[in-house]
Amino acid sequence: MAGRIPHPFIDELLNRVDIVDLINSRIPLKKAGKEYQACCPFHDEKTPSFTVSREKQFYHCFGCGAHGTAIGFLMEYDHMNFVETVEELAARQGLEVPREDGDRPTGPDPRPLYDTLEQVTHFYQQQLRHHPRASSAVEYLKRRGLSGEIAAEFGIGFAPPEWDSLIQQLGRNAEQLSRLRLTGMISEREPQSCYDRFRDRIMFPIRDHRGRTIGFGGRIMGDGKPKYLNSPETPLFHKGRQLYGLYEAQKAVRELKRLLVVEGYMDVVALAQFDIRYAVATLGTATTPEHMERLFRTVPEVVFCFDGDQAGRKAGWKALETAMSHMRDGREVRFLFLPEGEDPDSLVRKEESSRFQQRITEAVPLSSFLFERLATEVDMASLAGRARLAELARPLLAKLPKGLLRQMMFNRLGEMVGVDQAGADTGQAPPLTYRKQRAPLRAFLGTMPPVRRAIALLVTNPHFATAENLPSGWEKLTLPGIPLLQELLEILQNQPNLTTASLLERWREREEGKHLGKLAATLLPLPIEDQVQEFHDTLQALARQTLGARTEALLEKAAGGGLDAGEKELLSQLLARKAPR
Ligand code: GTP
Ligand code: MN
Repeated sequence: MAGRIPHPFIDELLNRVDIVDLINSRIPLKKAGKEYQACCPFHDEKTPSFTVSREKQFYHCFGCGAHGTAIGFLMEYDHMNFVETVEELAARQGLEVPREDGDRPTGPDPRPLYDTLEQVTHFYQQQLRHHPRASSAVEYLKRRGLSGEIAAEFGIGFAPPEWDSLIQQLGRNAEQLSRLRLTGMISEREPQSCYDRFRDRIMFPIRDHRGRTIGFGGRIMGDGKPKYLNSPETPLFHKGRQLYGLYEAQKAVRELKRLLVVEGYMDVVALAQFDIRYAVATLGTATTPEHMERLFRTVPEVVFCFDGDQAGRKAGWKALETAMSHMRDGREVRFLFLPEGEDPDSLVRKEESSRFQQRITEAVPLSSFLFERLATEVDMASLAGRARLAELARPLLAKLPKGLLRQMMFNRLGEMVGVDQAGADTGQAPPLTYRKQRAPLRAFLGTMPPVRRAIALLVTNPHFATAENLPSGWEKLTLPGIPLLQELLEILQNQPNLTTASLLERWREREEGKHLGKLAATLLPLPIEDQVQEFHDTLQALARQTLGARTEALLEKAAGGGLDAGEKELLSQLLARKAPR
């Protein structure tokens, strides 16, 4: 879409965001000397080996080897991609993410598209008040029991019945028309003949996590088809990722603890009106893995709500299957099946809101739903039936991440089947051995090839680049890693204040990036006082190696009798230095 995010901006962002605060807001950290520690969120452990360094703005786990910067942590922990993470961090700092034009292919700037959709939202809301035919829409909303207040909060509007109301209003020139097209607001039978996509419908703006409209759902007021029309996929709108009502829920509840996932727009709005302000809806699709992560990124507890009929149970099972692999410890999923023929909208209007809340509280835990449903599919009275249960359950349980829930579910399966073996978690990894390497690290440094050692020392101590009297001459070596070492030094000599984290972000998309991260992770816990000497000595050793290599090459050439005068002179100088190898 847009151009690359410039490095100086990433540097600035990493300067403003403190990795200790950031991680601490998700996992409570304890101070341990100069660093901070916790049990690692990326693997199971009982004693903390997850370490965060404020000085290096870097985290590292001695147990599983996970490591990275503030950006890397958020990407891992919240399952976001790089751009999403940078945008999220920037938004929290009140920064706009700039984009480079650069030589790479860049998409159009999305900002005008957001503006357009803001104007469209406003237009539809205006039409609900002022269009000559608005009374039918207002009537419809009243009949469905929507208060004016809640309609305003969700930005509900009215798309007039004409073919070109929106085009008349917001598509007056080619530029505007193109924006309407890119945001999916107009349809075309053929080029030059376009018309409003949404006509004579109640309009629900779909907002992203920052409250910007990115698309619409439009409901017909009568019995026509389709009942709901959604925006198509556009550069801003991806159905499989969005949750209708999430922005509104986050705005209404200061600290969300739980989200209720329902099926329809109307359900979200009705529940909000009856003070259940934590409902969200997928946009007519099944719950995707992206939805799961977005949900769990926001809250630890998710309740899925479905109709009690056959279709609802089936949809519930589908959600369960998707949820399994996201069930890290501390996360909870439950299922609420409503009485047949009811949806949340109808039910919350029929019974007290508190009764509906109670249903949510009593929703069935994922483990119960799973085992109860499977138990109905087999004959639990026979051994063969119970063996079949194990067979059906195993592949599902195998999707669970390692942890307490996984253990408990396998135990429960064992109990149900009545044979311990049947429930055994065959996918279990051997017990973790902790590689607490603090002491041997020093020795480890000595075993590294010198180029790698120099790089490692530099990445973890960027200020070494400006140390005095650094040896030169090593640049001419044709060894892997030399160009990288040179590049690192050059960058750091130009920008002496870059941190380890900034360097690693700069290499994020490059092959060597992974190695740099690992090197930083390995050296992080070493005391740095005498490392500058180590760095100096390493470069010196490399420089000597250059001389040695050059001497050898010249000697070889000399043996063939082919040295020119200059080369002879150089060789005698080199031999006089007795360059050690
Ligand atoms: P109301 O009839 O207005 O109460 O709608 P509902 O929210 O109860 O809708 P329903 O349970 O029929 O559908 C749930 C969700 O599925 C809707 O909110 C839409 O997102 C989606 N949906 C329903 N009908 C259609 C349709 O005809 N086309 C598309 N694309 N989506 C639909
Ligand atoms: Mn409904």
